[in-house]
Amino acid sequence: MTAASAPIEIAQLRKVFRQTTSGQSITAIDHLSLRIEPGELIAIVGKTGCGKSTLFDLLIGLEHPTAGSITIGGKTPYDDFNAFRGKIATIFQQDRLFPWRSALDNVKLPLELIGIADDVQQERALTWLKRLGLEKFANAYPRELSGGMRQRVAIARAFAVQPEILLADESFSALDEVTANELRKTFVDLAREFKSTAILITHQLEEAMAVGDRIVVFGKSATLLADVRMSDWDRADYPLLREAIQNTLQANVPDARLRR
Ligand SMILES: Nc1ncnc2c1ncn2[C@@H]1O[C@H](COP(=O)(O)OP(=O)(O)OP(=O)(O)O)[C@@H](O)[C@H]1O
Ligand SMILES: [Mg+2]
Repeated sequence: MTAASAPIEIAQLRKVFRQTTSGQSITAIDHLSLRIEPGELIAIVGKTGCGKSTLFDLLIGLEHPTAGSITIGGKTPYDDFNAFRGKIATIFQQDRLFPWRSALDNVKLPLELIGIADDVQQERALTWLKRLGLEKFANAYPRELSGGMRQRVAIARAFAVQPEILLADESFSALDEVTANELRKTFVDLAREFKSTAILITHQLEEAMAVGDRIVVFGKSATLLADVRMSDWDRADYPLLREAIQNTLQANVPDARLRR
């Protein structure tokens, strides 16, 4: 797998949606600037509606910025959509598998789309299903699998394209806690093994602290309330860190204790 080689540079990013029914404007993201280094593992936390998923839509080129920019290796996801084919993979809250395709064929689908040779598709999809402990279920259909197993297929599908950047949007929050913890660990271990840049959106602070090299806290309209590097903190100070981030989230203002 190719390790991520370029930073993600977000500069003065702004995204305004105009509601079709009311005609009102909603500023989902307002003047966000953030630089994410190759191979970094970032957890984004923020209240509901603060613009987290919108940032992902902009990163994968589904939406274009109202103002400001996102560039990855000098290219912009919306304008250079084709340059990013197979480079960014997303795991969503729901598995988004195709019910009429077997687990194997679901993992193969993005490989087909990026034009990987048939035999390589088959081999790579099987390798990844095996890696996720699903070799016996390659020919099973999503309805025959548990929620955790389906999300494993989704993880296999994401890694199989050998992406430079992995995005996980509340990917494990619909699962029971034990399964969620286990899959989160799998995801993080794989992202580290392949040196991918990974961004994980979560509502749970515990989850963020457990996985991130860096925790980014968004306030309303994705304003940057905190940008915490876990390596700056001793384990003994984690309770303080937790409290300060919690406070930041609640009050929607930066907390001086988070400056290091
Ligand atoms: N396509 C769209 N059209 C209009 N408004 C939108 C659209 N997408 C998002 N919004 C609005 O932008 C704001 C940010 O939404 P977003 O989905 O990014 O929030 P979020 O942080 O992911 O929330 P959650 O934690 O609930 O998933 C919300 O007010 C939402 O209603
Ligand atoms: Mg969301």
